[in-house]
Amino acid sequence: MKTIANLKDKKNTGEKLTCLTAYDASFAALMFDAGIDIILVGDSLGMVVQGKETTIPVTLEEIIYHTTMVKRGAPNAFIIADLPFMTFSDPQYALKNAGKVMKRTGANMVKLEGGNEMLETVSLLTSRGIPVCGHLGLLPQSVHKMSGYRVQGKSEDEASRILNDAIALENAGADLLVLECVPTKLAKDISEKISIPTIGIGAGVDCDGQVLVLYDMLNITKGKRPSFSKDFLQGKSSISDAISAYITDVKSKAFPADEHSF
Ligand code: KIV
Repeated sequence: MKTIANLKDKKNTGEKLTCLTAYDASFAALMFDAGIDIILVGDSLGMVVQGKETTIPVTLEEIIYHTTMVKRGAPNAFIIADLPFMTFSDPQYALKNAGKVMKRTGANMVKLEGGNEMLETVSLLTSRGIPVCGHLGLLPQSVHKMSGYRVQGKSEDEASRILNDAIALENAGADLLVLECVPTKLAKDISEKISIPTIGIGAGVDCDGQVLVLYDMLNITKGKRPSFSKDFLQGKSSISDAISAYITDVKSKAFPADEHSF
């Protein structure tokens, strides 16, 4: 079983971390057998599994249901469960809900979106033994507030806000940080300035690891594949081969290339 310490060791030795989303036992087992470092049960399930427009309708019970299946398929994987929209809207409510996820699913960590406004919550959860992965940059649960799915941190002000949020999340106790759709240079600065591993999606090759939504990298997501993703199934004869190719490309820094970055 991988631990947070193992993940941090990889940052320190420069070995890239690999992460994919999974929502069920079969895909989770394939990923674990291929050697993935982290499985994320993302609230992206609302879009790619349930066919909804955004991640906002996903419920805590749905995350618990899918994470339980993932755990069953890959009992020794390092599993992160996403906290859905409004299930962590104040620290005590977050503690109750994150505790429920940890107890009922066997996940190793929860993930929550947000920066400065989440510090009290991150501090409370981590002080009670619940490991937290932060999530900065594009925050899909705030898609309406952000006026769409756009790259974040392009202006100097925004970039310095995101960098300060990253430092503050680490100080509050977060053990991992997802950076979504931010310029490569900003993700590099953040990865150099904090000691916890950064996991990028649309954040360039200099993050400490990479995550993709499984259905995007298999190119089976309805609609257009995001530009930061890549079809790893193309030219492969099985899903296992596609997952192995992803792991190889992330570890060798062949993915993400410039065309998948901002
Ligand atoms: O929900 C999800 O799959 C995520 C990833 C995009 C990082 O949060």
